Amino acid sequence: MFNPADPANPIVHGLMTLPAAHPDNTFGTDRTLAYLKELAVFPEPYVSNDIYKSYPYARPALRFNPALPQFPAGTQVALVRRMVVVDSRGELKVTPITESIQLRAYALDPKTAQPGALANQDFYELILAPGELFERKGGLRASARMPAARHPVFEKATVFSQGNNCNNCHGDVGVFSLNTYTHLFGTLPNSPWFEPSDEKSQDRNTLDWKRRDYTWGLLSALLQSNQ
Ligand code: HEC
Repeated sequence: MFNPADPANPIVHGLMTLPAAHPDNTFGTDRTLAYLKELAVFPEPYVSNDIYKSYPYARPALRFNPALPQFPAGTQVALVRRMVVVDSRGELKVTPITESIQLRAYALDPKTAQPGALANQDFYELILAPGELFERKGGLRASARMPAARHPVFEKATVFSQGNNCNNCHGDVGVFSLNTYTHLFGTLPNSPWFEPSDEKSQDRNTLDWKRRDYTWGLLSALLQSNQ
């Protein structure tokens, strides 16, 4: 996402903005970077998971340390999905077309907020209306709070396409609801190291992932068989 505070470096912290700590720093860039650093070097990110003793076959032995540093109320996070197309040479390309933007703003201080309470965060979602894009009317429209599943015919159904309530998956407090950090639905990484990234590496990771996906294998075979 474009960061007006730092036009030369457009997406240093594209996914996260802490509220400004100082009137000169309207976009909270320094505070965001300082928080991410504090989180990354926190000495004991995992502690043992008490419930593991009762269900060792079904529960992870470790969990996130409840003492992890928290970001303040007013922090905003975004997830921006951009369109990937197949170019005339049959290669995958990330386009500048934004298909959806999901936003969450932490209304209450995560240190005192209650897990699961709807009042903790405000949720927003903007989705591309392709008709409006082609009529040059912009095209991103605010969606209802709990959107119904909407995905292209060839897209695989995933947990993300079920139209669930945002709070079902982001209901924990502060950093524990930051799924990019907690790896919800995945396994705990050896190190939860989390640092700012840039647009180029995001695009590269996305395309690397898609190239390994079986749907891309099928589609490339279909394209080649028609040549
Ligand atoms: C089925 C579970 C699920 C639902 C429902 C869901 N999300 Fe997420 N969300 C995730 C996961 C998992 C990630 C991490 C994605 C990644 O690591 O690339 C994520 C990432 C995000 C992020 C990036 C910051 C972060 O937490 O990592 C935002 C912002 C976000 N979601 C907003 C929303 C909004 C708004 C809604 C409702 C319209 C929503 N999400 C519904 C699972 C969900």
